[in-house]
Amino acid sequence: MFCDNNNYNINLPFNLIHQGKVRNIYDLVDNYLIVASDRISAFDYVLPTLILNKGKVLHQLSMFWFNMTKSIIENHIVTGDFNTFPQNLKKYSYLCGRSMIVKKATRINIECIVRGYISGSGWSEYCKTGKICNIALDKNLKESSKLQYPIFTPSTKEETGQHDKNISFADMINILGQEVAYKLKNTSIELYNKISQYTLSKGLILADTKFEYGVYNNNIILIDEIFTPDSSRFWEIDKYQEGKSQDSLDKQYVRNYLEYIKWNKEPPIPKLPDSIVKQTIMKYIDVYEKLTGCKFNYV
Ligand SMILES: Nc1ncnc2c1ncn2[C@@H]1O[C@H](COP(=O)(O)OP(=O)(O)OP(=O)(O)O)[C@@H](O)[C@H]1O
Ligand SMILES: [Mg+2]
Repeated sequence: MFCDNNNYNINLPFNLIHQGKVRNIYDLVDNYLIVASDRISAFDYVLPTLILNKGKVLHQLSMFWFNMTKSIIENHIVTGDFNTFPQNLKKYSYLCGRSMIVKKATRINIECIVRGYISGSGWSEYCKTGKICNIALDKNLKESSKLQYPIFTPSTKEETGQHDKNISFADMINILGQEVAYKLKNTSIELYNKISQYTLSKGLILADTKFEYGVYNNNIILIDEIFTPDSSRFWEIDKYQEGKSQDSLDKQYVRNYLEYIKWNKEPPIPKLPDSIVKQTIMKYIDVYEKLTGCKFNYV
């Protein structure tokens, strides 16, 4: 019997090959099934409270972007539309609106990050060295400054629990060879340019974003999730201020609450009150509707 009490262990009769903080990946033999749960993480911990429908928002946003970018590069989507799922999956109605069937690619173990603004680990590295991934930057940048042009700052993908390591583009060439390294860099920058221009027109800055690629049928394709709040930093144009860190667009209520109750950021991990859950899902839906120009469909 299919059960989903807590979104942690969704009881599907397929091999669960990976459980991330938010998504579960199942092996369907010919394809993978990626299911976006309603889990939420903050300060590197998955919280014990679910944000009802959040997985659907993330899934539908990813699908919107994969569709918008498919003229730039092939992606891993076979289908994200539950109505077209094979019969043996259709009885699991939980999957509807939050799952995609994808091509099984051989992952390229480099995170392809593009930054148009300086923030997060990029800002920390710049403060220490004046560079990010060996790219020398202007001397007078402040936290969250816009960069002269978007930069490509790859990192190695480390095992769960370990922090990814920033590497130079020269290192990336050593690992992947010139041809693949340039293809990933140029594609990533093209994707960033296209979508950051688009989000600006919707009132949001795309500060930085991360892509993953894989090899499928001897082609390089885009995999994983793209331009979601979990893989990107979005900032509201109206609230943007150079010289400080910016509010997280999607998780701000959660982080503020956890700071307010003075959680020491170690287990036990606190539950969220209903009011925070409601504000958070409304924020996710608000971001979705702003970006896509469509009403969110609960399906
Ligand atoms: N089409 C695909 N083919 C092969 N691997 C894929 C494909 N799409 C995504 N992946 C891999 O599936 C995994 C998805 O994991 P997920 O993002 O949920 O968790 P994570 O990256 O381990 O941690 P986090 O929750 O912090 O993101 C990633 O390792 C990603 O590289
Ligand atoms: Mg991930």
